Amino acid sequence: MKYIIQNDKPLKGIVKVSGSKNAVLPVMAASILTDGAVTIRDVPCLSDVQTMESMLQALGVKVRYDNKAGVINLSVPERLEHEAPYELVCKMRASFLVMGPLLARLGKVNVPLPGGCAIGSRPVDLHLKGFTALGAEIVQEHGFVSAQTKKLRGAKIYLDFPSVGATENIMMAATLAEGMTVIENCAVEPEIVDLANFLNSAGAQIRGAGTGTIRVTGVKRLNGTDHTVIPDRIEAGTFMIAAGITRGDITVTNVVADHLKSLIAKLKEVNLLVDEDGDGIRVIGEGRKLRATDVKTLPYPGFPTDMQAQFMCLLTKAEGASIVTETLYENRFMHVGELKRMGADIKIESRSAVIEGVPELTGAQVKATDLRAGAALVLAGLSASGSTEISDIYHIERGYCELDTKLNSLGAHIIRVGQGEELIK
Ligand code: EPZ
Repeated sequence: MKYIIQNDKPLKGIVKVSGSKNAVLPVMAASILTDGAVTIRDVPCLSDVQTMESMLQALGVKVRYDNKAGVINLSVPERLEHEAPYELVCKMRASFLVMGPLLARLGKVNVPLPGGCAIGSRPVDLHLKGFTALGAEIVQEHGFVSAQTKKLRGAKIYLDFPSVGATENIMMAATLAEGMTVIENCAVEPEIVDLANFLNSAGAQIRGAGTGTIRVTGVKRLNGTDHTVIPDRIEAGTFMIAAGITRGDITVTNVVADHLKSLIAKLKEVNLLVDEDGDGIRVIGEGRKLRATDVKTLPYPGFPTDMQAQFMCLLTKAEGASIVTETLYENRFMHVGELKRMGADIKIESRSAVIEGVPELTGAQVKATDLRAGAALVLAGLSASGSTEISDIYHIERGYCELDTKLNSLGAHIIRVGQGEELIK
């Protein structure tokens, strides 16, 4: 499938943000730990959610996903498979998050090692270091990693890097371990807090989520629960940038402004008007000249790496020279080549890109290479003169629920067609 974007006007209006992809995926994995009925609400309509649904079903979990209502009901039987299917783990890295829950519940687990992906090698050594500290025996062979233990025991674990996934996997495993687990130098993203809230609502005893040290006191079992996931801060940020790059006026609702502090600061630096009121954030680009600025991606609460491509797209039209430095991943500049084909002036120097603002971008045929790079190309197409065709939009639909529909409701002109189809002029 591809998007054909012919847009030449500012986007204006109000758009509701969906539930967070990076909150709902770990929460779905954590459901493996529970005994009883689990309901998850505000679930975004994403292909990644369908992949995680398939993963849970393959393990034996009973899952009913009503994607119209955005509600998942699931229940975990006594007997579960301990092996995660290869084809699902290689399709979505987040499937690796079933390892901690399966290890804690069954005492043994066999999961394919997730390969690298477009943006980097993305090892899982910190996850495995945590499981070993909790008393699991780890064996890596034939592309699988297996772990087993008679009983997980609480431990003190220091993460060399505040890895989001490692924090989540270890925290989930620790909920059913014997005794206290302390995870130090852990990730503090809002999605970690949401996962801890989900687990505590099911009877876990987790303290300190959102700070650099999480303490987990193991319990015997977790019950069912009913949880609404937090809004998707990255989707919200993408719409806020759309207001800037089309010189429009967009209000995003169902958003937690506190989760977007670093982006809001940067949007103000480039001379956009940002107004936070109650449940919404309004961004005005109309009549305002974009100014260059520098940005470096960092773990939360620093500027999010998942907003780097979208923000770079905004900078391609800002007056002056900007520098974007990507510190989380070794290869997250794949959008640069495609943006240059649309007329952007960008030079990569190792982990940094230097962007010279240009007066306009021109439409072109481009390819999405990964989720956030694809989102950046949509933003570029919204502000480019002429028509832009983005192919391989399956990357984008992994993480954005009805992106074309939402943007068209703001006045954009995006058509979704089969890859082979031509737009009837
Ligand atoms: C989560 O990935 C997000 N995915 C990513 O979002 C996001 O980019 C990332 O956190 C950073 O914020 C989900 O939550 C499903 P990490 P995760 O472990 O957990 C290194 C998107 O676009 N590392 O914090 O995989 C790793 O190589 C996606 O929605 C190790 O070295 O991120 C990377 O350089 C993309 N060893 C850095 O840490 C490990 O054991 C960040 O990885 C684990 C990670």
